[in-house]
Amino acid sequence: MTAPQNDLVCRRLVGRTAVITGAGSGIGLATARRLASEGAHVVCGDIDETAGKAAAEAVGGTFVQVDVTDAEQVEALFKTAFDTYGSVDIAFNNAGISPTDDDSILTTGLDAWKRVQEVNLTSVYLCCKAAIPYMRRQGRGSIINTASFVARMGAATSQISYTASKGGVLAMSRELGVQFAREGIRVNALCPGPVNTPLLRELFAKDPERAARRLVHIPVGRFADAQEIAAAVAFLASDDASFVNATDFLVDGGIAGAYVTPV
Ligand SMILES: NC(=O)c1ccc[n+]([C@@H]2O[C@H](COP(=O)([O-])OP(=O)(O)OC[C@H]3O[C@@H](n4cnc5c(N)ncnc54)[C@H](O)[C@@H]3O)[C@@H](O)[C@H]2O)c1
Repeated sequence: MTAPQNDLVCRRLVGRTAVITGAGSGIGLATARRLASEGAHVVCGDIDETAGKAAAEAVGGTFVQVDVTDAEQVEALFKTAFDTYGSVDIAFNNAGISPTDDDSILTTGLDAWKRVQEVNLTSVYLCCKAAIPYMRRQGRGSIINTASFVARMGAATSQISYTASKGGVLAMSRELGVQFAREGIRVNALCPGPVNTPLLRELFAKDPERAARRLVHIPVGRFADAQEIAAAVAFLASDDASFVNATDFLVDGGIAGAYVTPV
């Protein structure tokens, strides 16, 4: 079963400014394309200059090189968005890592633990801290923080710091969504299921058993396409989601709801 091709053209984000971290690849890149196609000005933040520039060029947006663990660089990212386009309406705080030395708690060292916490969790704190003052002044904003379905479910194939970092993203997003709701700011955590990225394809092509072990738990029987995650971000970013706030927004093909899946 393949993902449906959606040719619908929505223009829900005309005149809005969106900042996307990790825009150079995967979910971030697909979302940059989707938000631009809906009319948003897109500011592409990434640590990878080549990939980030290419993304910005592809969507007619602006590239800002940023290490999302650095407070000053994150502030500069959101300032560039405001100075260039006059508002900060959408923050998709999405950059994240999943390194191989983050594994079982029995083998994961403190260095790997801390690095993952910095890139996946501290970065979201910094991005929200930088974005919210602009949104408060406007009386409007939508923040979407990328967590993961693994923040909601236990895995015997552990990546302990990754899972804990994403759990932190859920709790922080919920709290911010509640705190700033009456100022017109919505904050949601996005929980994608496994996405069919080049990295994942390569990993699973080398190791079909590893792929099969995961696929059996997915009711729809396949991994997500990045465009399917981008479509959910576009919804959360838009006024169509005006009453969707402080959620753990699952886009997981039914994984979190499943006990026995179809054969
Ligand atoms: N791919 C999946 O199956 C999946 C599932 C659930 C959640 N997620 C989450 O979605 C997000 C995006 O994942 P992806 O699969 O698109 O990843 P990806 O590796 O394809 O893209 C991540 C991007 O983030 C950038 N980046 C990494 N560290 C950075 C830093 N310190 N500062 C700025 N940019 C940095 C990278 O250069 C890259 O362009 C991550 O938070 C990930 O944890 C992914």
